[in-house]
Amino acid sequence: MKKLTYLFAFILVITGVKVKADEGMWLPMFIDRLNYVDMQEKGLQLTPEEIYSVNKASLKDAIVGLSGSPKPNGYFCTGEIVSPEGLMFTNHHCGFDIIQNHSTVAHDYLKDGFWAMSREEELPNENLTASFLVRMADVTDSIIPFLSDTLDARERSAAVRKISSRMKKANSEDDRYNVVVKSFFGGNEYYLFVYEVFTDVRLVGAPPSSIGKYGGDTDNWMWPRHTGDFSIFRVYTAPDGSPADYAEENIPLKAKHYLPVSLDGVQQNDFAMIWGFPGSTSRYLTSESLDFQVSEVFPPLVEIFGKKLEVWKEHMDADQAVKIQYASNYASTANSWKYFIGQMRGVENLGVVDQKKEFEAEFQTWAEADETRKEKYGSVVENINTTMAGKRELFETYISVIYLGVAGADLMGYALDYSGLEGAMKQLKEEKDKEKKAKKQEEIDGMVEELKAGIPDFFKEHNMKLDQDVFASMTEMFYNNLDASYRPEYLVKLHDKFKGDFDAIAAYVYENSFVASETGANEFLNDPSLKTMSKDPAFQLAQGFMAKQMEVTGIYRSAPSTSADNRKFIQGIREMSPDKFFYPDANSTLRFTYGQVLDYEPADAVHFDYITHLSGVMEKEDPDSDEFMVDPKLKELYETKDYGPYGTEDGRLVVCFLSNNDITGGNSGSPVMNGKGELIGLAFDGNWEAMSGDLAFEPDIQRTIVVDSRYVLFVIDKFAGAGHLVDELTIKKKMPEPSRTIVREEVETDE
Ligand code: ARG
Repeated sequence: MKKLTYLFAFILVITGVKVKADEGMWLPMFIDRLNYVDMQEKGLQLTPEEIYSVNKASLKDAIVGLSGSPKPNGYFCTGEIVSPEGLMFTNHHCGFDIIQNHSTVAHDYLKDGFWAMSREEELPNENLTASFLVRMADVTDSIIPFLSDTLDARERSAAVRKISSRMKKANSEDDRYNVVVKSFFGGNEYYLFVYEVFTDVRLVGAPPSSIGKYGGDTDNWMWPRHTGDFSIFRVYTAPDGSPADYAEENIPLKAKHYLPVSLDGVQQNDFAMIWGFPGSTSRYLTSESLDFQVSEVFPPLVEIFGKKLEVWKEHMDADQAVKIQYASNYASTANSWKYFIGQMRGVENLGVVDQKKEFEAEFQTWAEADETRKEKYGSVVENINTTMAGKRELFETYISVIYLGVAGADLMGYALDYSGLEGAMKQLKEEKDKEKKAKKQEEIDGMVEELKAGIPDFFKEHNMKLDQDVFASMTEMFYNNLDASYRPEYLVKLHDKFKGDFDAIAAYVYENSFVASETGANEFLNDPSLKTMSKDPAFQLAQGFMAKQMEVTGIYRSAPSTSADNRKFIQGIREMSPDKFFYPDANSTLRFTYGQVLDYEPADAVHFDYITHLSGVMEKEDPDSDEFMVDPKLKELYETKDYGPYGTEDGRLVVCFLSNNDITGGNSGSPVMNGKGELIGLAFDGNWEAMSGDLAFEPDIQRTIVVDSRYVLFVIDKFAGAGHLVDELTIKKKMPEPSRTIVREEVETDE
């Protein structure tokens, strides 16, 4: 009996059953059926229609998926519309790359911040799009019945792709919409999403990094936090309101719905709901698959990324221009690096593998208790475990070949851009037919033009001295970490020629390759020759790495796949608890999560409050560290307590708070709302003690870190003097309650 109780408690935990409001990334179209009653009990005051409606404006119309593509399949961050004129909030770290692109040593918006004081000053961006969900639909029955059980994993995804592409066509209304079909519950269900995508999204405001990235990588993934992690954009449309690429005549988006902003602040246990685009979780993995992640996948990545960061940092610290150039790459690599370390630590500390093992034992007992079930599910876990165990041996090699080779130094990837040209030139040489030859030449001319056009882009984002050092480290690791059979022949040649001195090898490659300088690349393209290519060190090495990558990928891909068994496992888990609600793993589709503002206890005898204040920013100040520098203006506002309407009644300014909502990467920038659908903050991070949360939710200690909407408005208004932006918002603030004495007096008079 005890075991059974434990079993249930555990299933509830790992599978997202409706036991805790906080766990679960729910699909909007099921809000009425699955979550509404519970949400209402917890404090939601809106109706399901006000939240998700296909026909009427609803809350979902204010939620934005951010991408670099005009036809996104996923979103790197979330934004929310906060004014009738398309003003959008997201995180500073979401806008970071864009802010970097607009920055130079003379106008360093990363360092100093940027504020458009008029619409004319808002900065357009080439690769930034805003997607709004128009509707979603369950299309499982139009897909699953057409997939034969005999298909292997690859054939099955090909069949799904074929059906999906028909659906996409049928629902895109002549390309007016971007239609995405996604697999859920490991391929047991499919849903179709119709998005309207706006491609003119302009930068409106960003605080300096000393506010937007306060605490830097040291505080990243940590609480207590004091980061003003927000930036501001505006979505523009054609004059008729339809999506359009940047044009001067474009006008601000006329928002279907925008979120009012609450200045009331939060209290412990207040209802909190988050909407956004969580990217990926793996909550239904078996113990073996999970162990595989932490023991095979993360460790080599931690080593490789760690080394890269070390080399980058040295160059960035030495040169402000390089610091700007690599700021965004550095931040995102440092973010992943710390995330992997945190996950390994979390899985270990929280005993996640053992938890999963115990659950699998119960699953097995359930499966074997019935003949039909036994046939269907009896060997599923064992199959997955065997398959994963089989992948272990090769995996580190697979990852290392890719990340130390082609994806090591950026020059390697860039050199490979010239492969197509080489191929076409070889074909030209062999072609005898005059007409075909002319055609080939035309094709080559086109390729040359395209490569020429790409030269400034590559060199704007890269510093060859830095890349050369990255190359030396990555190539040395490649040579030493991998079995000799994976070394490209040309690498061995260089190794012998330079007697194993990888700095010397790097110097030779970067000094003698046409791809390693803007002039070299231009000169080559003015008169491309096959001979030059075949003798070019960077090009030869890149091709050698590529050949090895294809070899190892081939072996890895031909290994059996777990996807069919994973699908059955998830189906079994759901069948095991037919009365429970399950939520699917994150897959970059619109979700909501609800819970409450909540503190936590990270360790025995340690209590973390749910809220931080500006005083904490001052406490952490360290003028010698660029992660903890405080802007003099911010200090002045702190010293004079000049918080305007954004401070608390007792004269403090709240910076961040915690909630127990269930989010992950992709949710960054997501609106955190109170029961009335008003913005109380922007979600921007998760906490260190529960970094394994993407693999198993931890109700007691997993928290979302939120920047309070009052701090956001304070920075815009008081710090930056951009009050015109606050004027666009709809502010909600309760009238101050009459003081107790007055109430009593009134009562007394009444009597
Ligand atoms: N950990 C945050 C996320 O993954 C990103 C925070 C960015 N800040 C930083 N210091 N790198 O969404």
